[in-house]
Amino acid sequence: MPNIVYIATSIDGFIAKKDGGIDWLFEVPNPDGSDFGFSGFINNIDAIVMGRNTFELALRFGDWPYNKPVFVLSKTVKSVPNNLEDKVEILNQNPHAIVKELNSRKYFNLYIDGGKTIQEFLKHELIDEIIITRIPILLGEGIPLFDVLNKEQKYEHIKTDIFNNALVKSHYRKLRN
Ligand SMILES: NC(=O)c1ccc[n+]([C@@H]2O[C@H](COP(=O)([O-])OP(=O)(O)OC[C@H]3O[C@@H](n4cnc5c(N)ncnc54)[C@H](OP(=O)(O)O)[C@@H]3O)[C@@H](O)[C@H]2O)c1
Repeated sequence: MPNIVYIATSIDGFIAKKDGGIDWLFEVPNPDGSDFGFSGFINNIDAIVMGRNTFELALRFGDWPYNKPVFVLSKTVKSVPNNLEDKVEILNQNPHAIVKELNSRKYFNLYIDGGKTIQEFLKHELIDEIIITRIPILLGEGIPLFDVLNKEQKYEHIKTDIFNNALVKSHYRKLRN
């Protein structure tokens, strides 16, 4: 504990274009070159859990962008490129088993990333915190952050920051019944 989502979405709730494109995330003016709090967040994370599609996107960045252990969820990918063998591990289990396994390895603060992955963790009521940054664009279509849930889940608002009068970053924590 906790399992945390830290993600950016369009106003209409998409995390990427239909083709996976995320250029629109970086089009907001950022004269100070701010990371909008990401490094502070990642410093407190023990490990990152991401879906295979998000992993494939990260591979295209050139230099590996993460300085924390990364666990990639996939039923189809069985191995990682040689240069990432000490940084990335593939897991193929259900979300509860994944959290149990990683907690047993002393990874407690987990960053859960990727649309389908987040949706699956939400369905299992395994997301404790959501930090969501709204980008002022309507994409119209794309890869959605949320899917239907079979019951409601309540969160409390922790805080909202507005950056450059454009990005609205809100932090929510799950209320336990
Ligand atoms: N806006 C943002 O801040 C942000 C952040 C992250 C990602 N993105 C974008 O989001 C897109 C990726 O999201 P996505 O919804 O396509 O999917 P995703 O969650 O990154 O990847 C989905 C894949 O993960 C695997 N998977 C998920 N749960 C699993 C489990 N329990 N066990 C085994 N495998 C599991 C499956 O891979 P297999 O098919 O191999 O089994 C599944 O097809 C990318 O385009 C990326 O650019 C945007």
